[in-house]
Amino acid sequence: MRKKIVAGNWKMNKNYNDACSLISGIIDELRKSTISKEQQIILAPPFPFLQVAVSRTEEIEYISVAAQNCHSEEKGAFTGEVSAQMIRSTGTEYVIIGHSERRNIFKESNEFLSKKIDIVMKNGLFPIFCCGELLPEREKGNHFAVVKNQLDESLFHLSEKEIGNVIIAYEPVWAIGTGVNATSEQAQEMHAYIRKLISEKYNQQIADRSVLLYGGSCNAKNAKELFANPDVDGGLIGGASLITQDFVTIVNSF
Ligand code: PGA
Repeated sequence: MRKKIVAGNWKMNKNYNDACSLISGIIDELRKSTISKEQQIILAPPFPFLQVAVSRTEEIEYISVAAQNCHSEEKGAFTGEVSAQMIRSTGTEYVIIGHSERRNIFKESNEFLSKKIDIVMKNGLFPIFCCGELLPEREKGNHFAVVKNQLDESLFHLSEKEIGNVIIAYEPVWAIGTGVNATSEQAQEMHAYIRKLISEKYNQQIADRSVLLYGGSCNAKNAKELFANPDVDGGLIGGASLITQDFVTIVNSF
């Protein structure tokens, strides 16, 4: 059975004390919930809080920690950047790669993201690879082609063994932080398409095992409907991951 994953992308929010309170609140609330064996909860705080997130959750099997980004090079003169190896050394297991804010604000190209994927794999981290189209691309009917291109250019050079360790998050850019989520049908349609691409590039078994998350205004109200789709294995949550009760309600939406 595929894992069911809810990942919280905190983006550039919270200070140290607020981050500690949010982590503790989530841990306490999840302890009151029934978490199945297939479920994984991933917290992606900003870099300065990775260590505390890891130390507070390492005893809890169903909670893992992700970084929101890493640099494409191993080490060196890259002032202000953080390497995959540094992230791994904190005990962090996952890294979000290719979030639309990295693509659009920081101009990260598919080619650059492909290098990040390689360095992440090399350092034993699991990527959460984000893909998704802009509004004009959907309006022109190009959304499938855009997502295919993102996967082709950044991800599909991986070996069969490696691709099995990647989580893919479909996040239509027009849905991120807007309050307008993709409909259940739109999410399912794109997830089924991504799974088909994986089966064509690799094989059906790998496609069937791949975890595909939906992201973009997924919240406590709509998570149940989105997660009920056969190809939606959970969510990458932005805004709603900053509020303990909302995040836990989303976790409990399977
Ligand atoms: P949102 O963000 O849930 O606030 O729309 C999702 C994301 O950017 O990962």
